[in-house]
Amino acid sequence: MSLTGTSSIRETLREALIQCRQATLKQFDGIDNEAFCNQSHPEFSPAGWHLGHIGFTEELWLLRHLAGASPNRPIARSRQFSRLYAADGLPKAERVNLPSLTETCRYLQEIREDVLAYLEVAPLEEQQRLWWFIVQHESQHSETIALVLQQQNLANLPFSQPGTVSSLECDSVTVPAGEFEMGNDGVEAMDNERLPHRVFVEEFQIDRYLVTCSQYRRFIAAGGYENPQYWSKAGWRWVCENDISQPLYWTDNEAFGNYPVCGVSAYEANAYAKFVGKRLPTEAEWEKAARWNPQTGLSQAYPWGGEFPDASRCNHHQFNRGTTSVNAYPEGVSPVGCWDMLGNVWEWTTTTFDGYDGFEFFPYKGYSQVYFDGEHFVLRGGSWVTRPWALRGSFRNWYHPHVRQIFAGFRLCV
Ligand code: AVJ
Ligand code: FE
Repeated sequence: MSLTGTSSIRETLREALIQCRQATLKQFDGIDNEAFCNQSHPEFSPAGWHLGHIGFTEELWLLRHLAGASPNRPIARSRQFSRLYAADGLPKAERVNLPSLTETCRYLQEIREDVLAYLEVAPLEEQQRLWWFIVQHESQHSETIALVLQQQNLANLPFSQPGTVSSLECDSVTVPAGEFEMGNDGVEAMDNERLPHRVFVEEFQIDRYLVTCSQYRRFIAAGGYENPQYWSKAGWRWVCENDISQPLYWTDNEAFGNYPVCGVSAYEANAYAKFVGKRLPTEAEWEKAARWNPQTGLSQAYPWGGEFPDASRCNHHQFNRGTTSVNAYPEGVSPVGCWDMLGNVWEWTTTTFDGYDGFEFFPYKGYSQVYFDGEHFVLRGGSWVTRPWALRGSFRNWYHPHVRQIFAGFRLCV
């Protein structure tokens, strides 16, 4: 499966919509009504809200916006739900009185039937970008559903089967100074990936691997969480106010020593970096290490080249039950020699989220533009949950630096 390739756009889109939905719904197997409606953390809406919002957004953009109203297509569906499911509707804490899982699935299914019927006749040449947006919108909410459910089941840490236990040496590669192309203008590009532009990056060194649990354990053991010297002012205040003493998804089981640290805020990532005398990469450094091919001088869509992600390249799409060893995917290594640049855990960078030159919002300001406030930090690379349609070297994610519920870790630079 690829976004362009030989199969028709229509068929590729249809497959993506169907497969993404399958993955979204599978997460609700065995979820009771309480878990469905439960707001497990004040910054995240209940899992059931995300599910309804996925359908609402699909109807809003593909049916109301593209297909237009039709007399026998009940636009009223989204009217009835617009206060509940619109991104700028109810405050998060009031999103708890939800239709049941069964009712929500019916709502999604009704919309989906109309969407697939419309897909057969839609003028895709001019609409592709919005269709791919919708696939990626669901992909992202699907990941948020996973982390919201994770908050309600902390005993079930998101680590897959233990892998090799031999210790991994910290090893880095040097990326020479020079320009590379950053960003993406393909049909799948989100507004914040555009426009592609050349960026000069000074020489830097970056670690081949993500920071592992056994490395991070030394920071904890050395009293890292008790010593303000490693922390920024805001970071230290955050540690004290929230009584933080280890990553959110943490285990002392040494069988997971080669697994990436997961469930850290940007504050923790930066504190660890200071502890070992290194730093996080900038967003541009990260992207160059992931995509730039020194042989061709070009930027590849993926670390391994141009092929759409599959289970052999990296840990994503819940192919595994959690994170995996940081050296588990030799077939996903980037041209400069970095492992796991996609999948496993999101990677914090030092860059605040902003639009590239020539930025134009699409399809609405609330997707990216309202977050250009200097208070959100960019994360790159995707996690073990990230759907393949939202996984590529140019894809940008962003959160406040204190957020640790996401499946995020980091790698270091000098
Ligand atoms: C990019 C993951 C931070 O979930 O808030 C979904 C994605 N935007 N619907 C989010 C998004 C609108 C966004 N993140
Ligand atoms: Fe959304």
